[in-house]
Amino acid sequence: MNLTLKVWRQNGENDKGGLVTYPISNVSEDMSFLEMMDVLNEQIIADGGDPIAFDHDCREGICGMCSLYINGEAHGPGRGVTTCQLHMREFKDGDTIFIEPWKAKAFPVIKDLMVDRSSFDAIIQAGGYVSVNTSGNTQDANALPIEKEKADAAFDAATCIGCGACVATCKNSSAMLFVSAKVSQLALLPQGRVEATDRVLNMVRQMDLEGFGNCTNTGACEVECPKGISLENIARMNREYLAASLTGK
Ligand code: SF4
Ligand code: FES
Repeated sequence: MNLTLKVWRQNGENDKGGLVTYPISNVSEDMSFLEMMDVLNEQIIADGGDPIAFDHDCREGICGMCSLYINGEAHGPGRGVTTCQLHMREFKDGDTIFIEPWKAKAFPVIKDLMVDRSSFDAIIQAGGYVSVNTSGNTQDANALPIEKEKADAAFDAATCIGCGACVATCKNSSAMLFVSAKVSQLALLPQGRVEATDRVLNMVRQMDLEGFGNCTNTGACEVECPKGISLENIARMNREYLAASLTGK
């Protein structure tokens, strides 16, 4: 396939940035999108240019690092896949592909297609954990029976990889789907109930401090989430938040 790539280039947070056109030839439909980007970078380096900065790590849909906005969609066309799981067979010869970074106030651009998602880390640090006494013997895994329905829902919420596609795709740049998944995965389990009140209040407070927008229930986040995180988690977090607020903490 021969393609025309329009790639966002930006030299740091304060640079205006803009799209730069790169033609690329002989792209195999079996390449992953990131492999195609690797080939493009080799081409740019061979021509004496500055390679395009983009995030990646596992390339298996696990780490949540790859974060490209492709043809106006977070993680590109297709559902339930991250950018690293997207293959060039989704495109056809002669296509023009627009490649941009996540755009949200809370995700400032570091360079080109790389954004700083440490705002997510700050939210996790505010409460996305359980405090466990690690001294003595390890507790038997079966000592705390958990209803299957709750275990399944907690596991589903825990599949969030923190990629940020939900924020990038939301017209308000809301992080509610991400935060609600992180609140839910712990709130549904007995181990997470001990700190549940403080957790939801602190995580939501931090989310607001980081500059994420409000949720207006458009549902775009659920559609673009590569892990199928459900809007039910947002409803659960809202209930948790209301209950925690009423305790007056
Ligand atoms: S909720 Fe989905 S889109 Fe949002 S960070 Fe988690 S995995 Fe990514
Ligand atoms: S590189 Fe890890 S999820 Fe894409």
